[in-house]
Amino acid sequence: MGDVIVIGGKGGTGKTTISALLVLGLAKKAQGAVLAVDADPNSNLCDALGLKDAGTIADIVDEVARKPEVVPQNMGKDAFIEYKIHSDITESEGFDLLVMGRPEGPGCYCYINNVLRSCMAKLIADYRYIIIDNEAGLEHFSRKTTRACSELIVVSDATQVGLRSARRIFELVDELGISPKRRFLFVNKVERQKDTGGMEKDCKIDKVFFIPYDPVVTELSAKGVSLSCLPQDSAMRQAVVKAGEVIWPKN
Ligand SMILES: Nc1ncnc2c1ncn2[C@@H]1O[C@H](COP(=O)(O)OP(=O)(O)O)[C@@H](O)[C@H]1O
Ligand SMILES: [Mg+2]
Repeated sequence: MGDVIVIGGKGGTGKTTISALLVLGLAKKAQGAVLAVDADPNSNLCDALGLKDAGTIADIVDEVARKPEVVPQNMGKDAFIEYKIHSDITESEGFDLLVMGRPEGPGCYCYINNVLRSCMAKLIADYRYIIIDNEAGLEHFSRKTTRACSELIVVSDATQVGLRSARRIFELVDELGISPKRRFLFVNKVERQKDTGGMEKDCKIDKVFFIPYDPVVTELSAKGVSLSCLPQDSAMRQAVVKAGEVIWPKN
């Protein structure tokens, strides 16, 4: 049974960058398959991981809506969509990628979320680690897509606003009755350790990691270059890899 790792936090804090670096770290060290899930409709995990043109769940759903005849007669629509998702997963070196994408019609987003949720059981059986890079808002938590969460990682910057919104995510998870086995806070783009205002204790956080600001990361991102090109000795890469080793010591 795989670990489901949910990454949440306010937009721009570094969720996608940290997700990608955790995926690359686990892909290198993990015994067992790693699946990266880009669950942000304004997705860019794909670019961060250096993969181009990954198919999306939204594409599959849109195709079935446009051409219902593609569904074989002996198979229901939902079963066909699930089958297509499993066969369309992008395979890369050491990890696979599943992208939710952006649906064309209004109101379809909920449906895609439901599709992802119903695929989860099989994915959890197939992969050792599933890392889900979420959108900025809390929609995923409220839609209960992330029921089966082993580790919740909330990413924040070091500002008061950022830390307040991180605290809200931890509180919301409790209100929704989602019980991640472990909770971590990544305070990103910092120069040194910061006071989190007692959040560690209040929100039952297992550990807080401080990730340094790394100009090379900004540079690569501005050029649209994959994080796999980030040098091994980059300050951010080293800090995230180290955090991964603390969270999953037995890889
Ligand atoms: N530790 C860091 N040092 C420097 N730049 C960073 C760091 N973490 C993230 N960034 C940059 O911040 C921006 C937002 O990061 P991103 O991962 O896309 O955030 P999110 O997914 O939360 O919206 C990107 O340009 C990224 O390259
Ligand atoms: Mg993102």
